[in-house]
Amino acid sequence: MTLEEYIKTLQQNGKITTVSKSISRNLEIAGVLKKLEPEPVLFENVKESEFRVAGNLFCNKMQVADYFGITTEEIIPTLSNAIVNRSEPEQIDNAPCQEVIEDKVDLDMLPILIHNKIDGGPYISSGVVVAADPEYGQNLDFHRAMQFSKDRMVARVVKGRDFHKFLERNGEVDVAFCIGNTPEVLIAAATSVETGINELEIANALSPIRLTKAKTVDLMIPADCEFVLEGRVVLEEKHDEGPFIDLTETVDVVRQEPIFKVKKITHRKSAIWQGLLPGRSEHKILMGMPREPTIFKKIKERGIDVLDVYITPGGASWLHVAVKVQKKNEDDGLQALEAAFAGHRSAKHIWVYDEDIDIYSDEEREWALATRFQADEDLLIKDKEAGSSLDPSAEPGTKLTTKCGFDCTKILDSKGKSYEKAKFPEVDLKKYLGE
Ligand SMILES: Cc1cc2nc3c(=O)[nH]c(=O)nc-3n(C[C@H](O)[C@H](O)[C@H](O)COP(=O)(O)O)c2cc1C
Repeated sequence: MTLEEYIKTLQQNGKITTVSKSISRNLEIAGVLKKLEPEPVLFENVKESEFRVAGNLFCNKMQVADYFGITTEEIIPTLSNAIVNRSEPEQIDNAPCQEVIEDKVDLDMLPILIHNKIDGGPYISSGVVVAADPEYGQNLDFHRAMQFSKDRMVARVVKGRDFHKFLERNGEVDVAFCIGNTPEVLIAAATSVETGINELEIANALSPIRLTKAKTVDLMIPADCEFVLEGRVVLEEKHDEGPFIDLTETVDVVRQEPIFKVKKITHRKSAIWQGLLPGRSEHKILMGMPREPTIFKKIKERGIDVLDVYITPGGASWLHVAVKVQKKNEDDGLQALEAAFAGHRSAKHIWVYDEDIDIYSDEEREWALATRFQADEDLLIKDKEAGSSLDPSAEPGTKLTTKCGFDCTKILDSKGKSYEKAKFPEVDLKKYLGE
C-alpha cells in the first residue's frame, strides 16, 4: 500500500483533517501539526511546492495497531515474530516511486519543512535510508538531513549505527533516502538488529512490500514509497549539521557531519511528502516502540510471565519503560527490572506493574506507584552506569547516569489492607436515563 492509499482510507473513515488553505513549509505546517497532534493532517496547498504534505499519521500505538488491523497488545508479538521470521519481498519493475524521474536535481522543488525557528535549515526528518556494504549487504536506518544547497544535504550519522559502520569501512556509500513510507518500512528501519540483517525483510514479514531497483545506485528500495533521493554520502566531506530538536525536545548541538550529494530525484505522480515533527509523538513512537520486543524477550528469558511493555512518551519514548507482569514469585518485580535494564541500555527509569494495571494510562500507573510501592524495599538503584547520550542530565563527556527501577507490584501474601481497587455496581444506564 502507498501512503496516499492509506491516507485515502483515513479520509473515508473521517480520521484525517484536510487543510486546503495555502500554507507555508516554513514553520506554518509544523505549527499546525503540533496544534492538532495526534490527529493526522493532510496539507493540500503548500505555498512553496506543487506537492502535498501529510503528518501526524502514526503518533501512538493505537494508530499503528489500526494500520495493521491488530490490537495494541498484539504489536510486540507481531514485531517479535517479524524480526525472527523475516521474508524476502517481491521485486518489481515500473515502480510507483519512479513514476516521475526528474531531469535535474533541485531540492527546492520539494516541501522540505522548516520545523522551528532555531533550525539550521530545512530538514528531512522522516527519511528512511537504504545503504549497502560489500560484506554486510543492505541496511535500513533513519537519518535526519539538513538541506544547504540545491543538491547537497548534511546527514546526522550517530556513531555505532550500521550506516556509520558502512561509512567507516568504505569512506563513501551510495544511498537512497526514501520519504513517504507506511509503518512496516518505518518500524523495520527503526529496529536495531544484528548488522547484516536486511530490515526490508522485517518490513515484508510485518506486511508484504515490494522492492524495485534504484535508478542511479545499486540498491533495492521500497517500490511504493512517495519520494526517493538517490546519491552518495561521503564521510570525510563535512558540513555544519544543526541546530535541530532531538528526541528529548531539547536543542541538539551543531556538529560537523557527512555530506549527502543528491544525484537523482524520483517520485510518484501524485506524491505526498511525509512530515514528522522532531521530538514529538511520531518521532517518539517510532524510536521507542521497536525496542519493546527486545525488553519483552529479556524479561521472558528470566522465566517471568511478562504480559506487555510500553516505552512511555513522557519519558521521551526512550528513557522510561512500563512493564506489566503476571507475578508468581515475590521477587518477580525486581527480577523483571534487572532484565528490562539489560534489554534497553538507554533506559533510565523502569516501572513494573501487575496485570490489573492499564500501563497505557498515566493515572493508573501513578495509582499503582502510590498504593503498591515502598521505597526501602521496592527501589532498585543502579549507580553511574552508561546511559543515553540524549539525556541532558547525564554526566557531560562520559554520559554516565544513575538509573532506578520501581517495583509497583503488590505483595503476594499481604497482611494489611487489600491491594485491589473496589468495584462499583454495574448498571444499565438506559434503565435510569431512558434511550
Ligand atoms: C524518526 C527517527 C529519526 C532518527 N534520526 C536519526 C538520525 O538523524 N541519525 C541517526 O544516526 N539515527 C537516527 N535515528 C535512530 C536510528 O535510525 C535507529 O535507531 C535505527 O534503528 C538504527 O539502526 P541500525 O541498528 O541498523 O544502525 C532515528 C530514528 C527515528 C525513529
